[in-house]
Amino acid sequence: MERNEFLWGGSIAAHQCEGAWDQDGKGLGIMDLVTKGTYETPREICQTIKPGKDYPSHTGIDFYHRYKEDIALFAEMGFKALRISIDWSRIYPKGDEASPNPLGVQFYQAVVAELLKHNIEPIVTLYHFEMPVHLVREYGSWTNPKVIDFYLNYCKTMFEALKGQVRYWVTFNEMNHIDPQTEASDIFTYIIAGLKYSDLQDKKQTLATISYNMTLASVKAVALAREIDPSNQVGCVFGLTPAYPLNCDPQNVLNSLKETDREFYQIDAMCMGKFPEYKLREYQAQGIKLEIGAEDAAAFEKGKLDFIGLNYYSSSVARYEGDDQEEETLFGGTQNPYLEQSKWGWAIDPTGLRYIMNYLYRRYALPIIITENGLGAVDQVEADGTIQDDYRIEYVQKHVEQMEKAIVEDYVDCFGYLMWGPIDLVSATTGEMKKRYGFIYVDKQDDQTGDLTRKRKKSFTWYQELISQKPTFK
Ligand code: BG6
Repeated sequence: MERNEFLWGGSIAAHQCEGAWDQDGKGLGIMDLVTKGTYETPREICQTIKPGKDYPSHTGIDFYHRYKEDIALFAEMGFKALRISIDWSRIYPKGDEASPNPLGVQFYQAVVAELLKHNIEPIVTLYHFEMPVHLVREYGSWTNPKVIDFYLNYCKTMFEALKGQVRYWVTFNEMNHIDPQTEASDIFTYIIAGLKYSDLQDKKQTLATISYNMTLASVKAVALAREIDPSNQVGCVFGLTPAYPLNCDPQNVLNSLKETDREFYQIDAMCMGKFPEYKLREYQAQGIKLEIGAEDAAAFEKGKLDFIGLNYYSSSVARYEGDDQEEETLFGGTQNPYLEQSKWGWAIDPTGLRYIMNYLYRRYALPIIITENGLGAVDQVEADGTIQDDYRIEYVQKHVEQMEKAIVEDYVDCFGYLMWGPIDLVSATTGEMKKRYGFIYVDKQDDQTGDLTRKRKKSFTWYQELISQKPTFK
C-alpha cells in the first residue's frame, strides 16, 4: 500500500451515533430493539419496542443530522481518517429487497463527500453490529447461507455507490467474539448476529454455522470489492485481547496461548486462503457439521485480506486450574494485579497493545491499522464549562507510545491509529452515555436530558497537537 502519512483519526459506528432510527426509509435494525443498561444491569433485548423504555440507538447523538458539525470538529483536530459504519437497514430496510433505499445511499454519499471535503480518508465498515431484524426473523440470521447473498448484494450497492470515493473498506467488525467453544453472554451473540445465546438450541452447532457463513461472506466481499474497483483495499476488524498466564507454570502458559488464540481461527481463514484444518477437525471431533459448498475453497483462496483492523482495549488473565472466578465482566475472570482497571472493570494495559501488534504482524505479515482503542470514563463538566479529562489523555498517550515502539523498534507495519469514539456516543455493551470515550463532549445524559451540544474537552487540544507533531513514523 502506498502511504505517505500516518492515518491518525477515530472510529464511530452508525447505531451508536446516528439516531434517526426510523427516518428516511430506514428499517428496523437489531440494535433498535436493545434498551439502555448499566454496568450492573444488562441491556434488555426486546422483541418489540416497548413504551416507556429507553432505546439509545433511536436518537444516538443525532449524528444523522449533525454530521457536518461533527466532521468539522474532527477536521479541526487534524484527523487524517475517520472510520464510519454503514447501517445495512438504512440501505436495505428489510435486507432482502430487490433495490436499495435511495435516501439511505444518499446519506452515506453525503457523509463521505463531507469527509473528503476536509481531506479526511473515509474507512467504511459494512457491518458493525447492524443487521435488518427481518433477516433474523425470516431467515434465521447467519445460520442461513441466503443471508450471505443478501449481504453481498448490499456490499455491491455500497461499493458501486462510493466507488472512487472510498479506498478502505472493512467487511465486519469483531465477528471473532463468535466462538462455538466459549460460553457467551446474550448481548455478545446478539450484537453480532441478532440472536440471544440463551435462546440457541444447539449452541455449538449454531455458532459454528454462523461463524463459518460470516467468514465466507467476508472473503466473498473482499473479492467483490476488488472486482468492482481494483484499487479498493479491504480489511476486517477484530477485537483482540491477549490472555496472559497467571504465572510461568507451563500449563498456565499453554492455557494463555490457547485462550489468546481461540479468537484467531477466522483471521487464519481470511489471511491464509483456506478455512483452517485444525478448526474443521475440532468440529468433526465434536459432531459439529458444516455445510461447505463446492465453491467455498476457491472463495477463501481468492478473498484474502489486504489489511487487518485491530480493536484493542484490554488484556486478560487466562483461566487456570482451580480458577473459580465467574466471567462476569467483559474481560472477565481474574484481574491482573499489575494493572489498573477502568470504572467498567477493563484492565488498562498499554503494553498489551504492543504485544498483540507483534503477535498479529508476525503471524500474518499484513499491514495493521488500530481501528479502535480508548477509555470509557465518567466526565465531569466543571463550573467554567471545561472538561479536564487528563485520565483519557494519559490512556491514549501510553497506548500511542507502545504503538510507536511496535512500529519503530519491532518493525510492525501499522498505518494508522483510530481512537474509539472521538465524540461521545452510546456504549455498545451497556447502552450508556455516561461511559464516555470522546475528545468531544456531547450533552446527552442517561436520564434523556441534555441539548446535544458539542464541547471540546481538554483531550481535544492534546490529540490535535499529537497529530500535528507526528505526521509519520518513518
Ligand atoms: C468495541 C466495539 O468492541 O468496543 C464498539 O467495536 C464499542 O462498538 C467498543 O463501542 C467499546 O465498548 P463499549 O461497550 O464501552 O461501548
